[in-house]
Amino acid sequence: MLVNLKTLLTKAYIDKRAVGSFNVYSYETIHGVCKAIKITEKPAIISFGASYMKNMSLECVKSIVDEAVKDMPEDTVLHLDHCRDLKIIKAAIDAGFTSVMYDGSALDFEENIKNTKDVVDMAHAENVSVEAELGKVALGDYSNETDIDSKQAFTNPSSAAEFAERTNIDALAVSIGTVHGMYKGEPNIRIDILKEINAATDIPLVLHGGSGTPKKTLIDCIKNGICKINVNTEISRYTVRKMYKAIEDEPNIHLSKLALLETEFVSESVSEYIRLFYRN
Ligand code: 13P
Repeated sequence: MLVNLKTLLTKAYIDKRAVGSFNVYSYETIHGVCKAIKITEKPAIISFGASYMKNMSLECVKSIVDEAVKDMPEDTVLHLDHCRDLKIIKAAIDAGFTSVMYDGSALDFEENIKNTKDVVDMAHAENVSVEAELGKVALGDYSNETDIDSKQAFTNPSSAAEFAERTNIDALAVSIGTVHGMYKGEPNIRIDILKEINAATDIPLVLHGGSGTPKKTLIDCIKNGICKINVNTEISRYTVRKMYKAIEDEPNIHLSKLALLETEFVSESVSEYIRLFYRN
């Protein structure tokens, strides 16, 4: 069933678990994520980034998701990832998305608060949840998020508390050293900063840049307030590598069979993350 992000994360926050948020941009990736939810029997978030509107329209995503979640007992969220354009956010709400992310991380503090509040007013009126970001997540290798401002800036814990309180958001994306894409060197994830943010705030925290982050670090993050973990690049890399092998094994494979394999490979990769994040 499609629920909003607040509903899903409130439970995870209390249980000290994280829900995986996985980027989709095609029929195959949507069905791959939904298949993983069915196999693991655990909730997850279907996340469509505004940057993928070249691939699919918001309405097309919603109609494929509606069909895919029809017989699914687990709760699911249809989330709009990274969006700076209030018109697109409004269109996603109108299309039936149950959660949106306003990304004002490139703006100064007051401007980010003002725009985020406008989004919260618009979204909450329709029972849609809002995630916003404070601080900046850097850009690593092989990410598709090339149009996001990519300079690293850690989230300031006391500003995070003020930001969450003044905007009334449902989840806060923080910057603690993860990157969008694969790390260029050794990851240096500042659990100490995360602990301070978690102590200063009382809302679910979101970790962007899940790809390439060591499992132990991800578990530490979950223990310290992270309730939603975004993963994109690793799933793409896993799937592309497996498809490359499938084509090597059978160069004349029909495209329709390759599409089915793509769904399968996405599901394999996503299932592993869901099991890691949503532990009992
Ligand atoms: P990765 O591509 O590093 O997994 O990050 C995904 C993400 O944060 C999407 O918002």
